[in-house]
Amino acid sequence: MAKLRTLIRRILIFLIHFIRTKVYGMHIHPSALISLKAQLDKTNPKGVYIGRKTVITGNVVVLTHNYVMGNGTYVDTKIGDNVFIGTHAIIMPGITIGNNCIIGAGSVVTKDVGDFSIVAGNPAKLIRTDNTIGEYGQFKK
Ligand SMILES: CC(C)(COP(=O)(O)OP(=O)(O)OC[C@H]1O[C@@H](n2cnc3c(N)ncnc32)[C@H](O)[C@@H]1OP(=O)(O)O)[C@@H](O)C(=O)NCCC(=O)NCCS
Repeated sequence: MAKLRTLIRRILIFLIHFIRTKVYGMHIHPSALISLKAQLDKTNPKGVYIGRKTVITGNVVVLTHNYVMGNGTYVDTKIGDNVFIGTHAIIMPGITIGNNCIIGAGSVVTKDVGDFSIVAGNPAKLIRTDNTIGEYGQFKK
């Protein structure tokens, strides 16, 4: 049964990646690991950029559009390589997250994040920088 579940999950992940990249036109590196429960903005899907070996966990929201008082804006939101985004984080429209970063659970990221940064909170603030953040946003031993 476990093998069947794994197989179904792999097929689902493949199909969802295909739909996100080929149907919606999102820019997602094939090595990125994206939870099936992550919400990537489908109103402006071509504005979604996710780099290599980046992890987007469950219930993360990546926004690429904004409707405020009827003025719609459609922007690019760019997440670099080797980033780990904790559960329930919200990445606001137009934000750029650099490479080798960690975004804390529940953060609301309202400003660009530099390489090798760990940010958390609402609004997300720099906790510290750490140049040992490596692939998939994991610390190198
Ligand atoms: C961001 C994170 C990596 C920081 O871990 P850490 O380096 O061990 O940081 P600490 O626990 O030492 O906390 C440092 C400070 O940041 C604060 N902080 C940590 N995580 C936070 C978060 N998600 N939101 C708000 N503040 C946070 C702590 O309260 C602490 O504040 P203080 O210095 O005022 O006491 C971690 O807290 C986190 O959010 N991990 C993601 C977990 C997750 O989503 N897992 C998904 C399933 S795999």
